Amino acid sequence: MTPLSLIHYHNEHLIKNLEEKGNQEGLAYAQKVKESARRVIEIFDDMRSLIKDRDDYEYVELAKIIKKSYFYTHIQMQKNEIDFVFDTQNSDQLVWGSSGQLGQVFTNLLNNSIQAIKDLEDKWIKVSIKNTDGYLVVQVMDSGDGIPRDMQEKIFESLFTTKGDSGGTGLGLAISRRLIERMGGQIDIDEACPNTCFTLKFPIKEESKKAS
Ligand SMILES: Nc1ncnc2c1ncn2[C@@H]1O[C@H](COP(=O)(O)OP(=O)(O)OP(=O)(O)O)[C@@H](O)[C@H]1O
Ligand SMILES: [Mg+2]
Repeated sequence: MTPLSLIHYHNEHLIKNLEEKGNQEGLAYAQKVKESARRVIEIFDDMRSLIKDRDDYEYVELAKIIKKSYFYTHIQMQKNEIDFVFDTQNSDQLVWGSSGQLGQVFTNLLNNSIQAIKDLEDKWIKVSIKNTDGYLVVQVMDSGDGIPRDMQEKIFESLFTTKGDSGGTGLGLAISRRLIERMGGQIDIDEACPNTCFTLKFPIKEESKKAS
């Protein structure tokens, strides 16, 4: 067992024990330990995927990966009453990459959107996939006001975060950009969009088309 899984394992026992004893205050602390351990495990996974080589690349269907990321984040969306729209017309081409790494990328984008808009009145996230000129273009848009111009490059830098108080590491977008570029893709902010919008572009190879 890794030291991290030991922390998780012993903490689960602690939670059970505190539940049995009805110790609500202790339980609240142990739940915080659980949440922090989960975040460290996520960060560890992110870092691990950066130093891994390309062995787990394959042809992947982006819509499937995005649906999985939605599955991981939908509880938070429901809790915060955020509408989610997913438009996948004309997107059954496959791209060459790692489904695990792409899953991290989209989960981070959805989590970023949730955190950015959860206190707004108008709360929605829209994801679309389109086939444009040999590229699969994914847009992840939310009802926020966009990223101020002087922050647009900074948010892709390692350790840049505005969530210091709530445990953000500022690694999400920096790692995402590196992983996507390694797959031959791009991730940028779409300035033409009236809301907050990230555009991701992945090359489609002719031979990568799904057999129909
Ligand atoms: N959809 C968004 N709307 C507004 N600001 C955003 C959005 N996505 C990212 N940002 C800004 O970019 C910063 C960097 O994002 P990034 O995902 O790299 O790190 P983080 O979310 O702060 O931390 P972590 O991903 O480790 O939880 C965020 O702190 C936030 O200020
Ligand atoms: Mg993030």
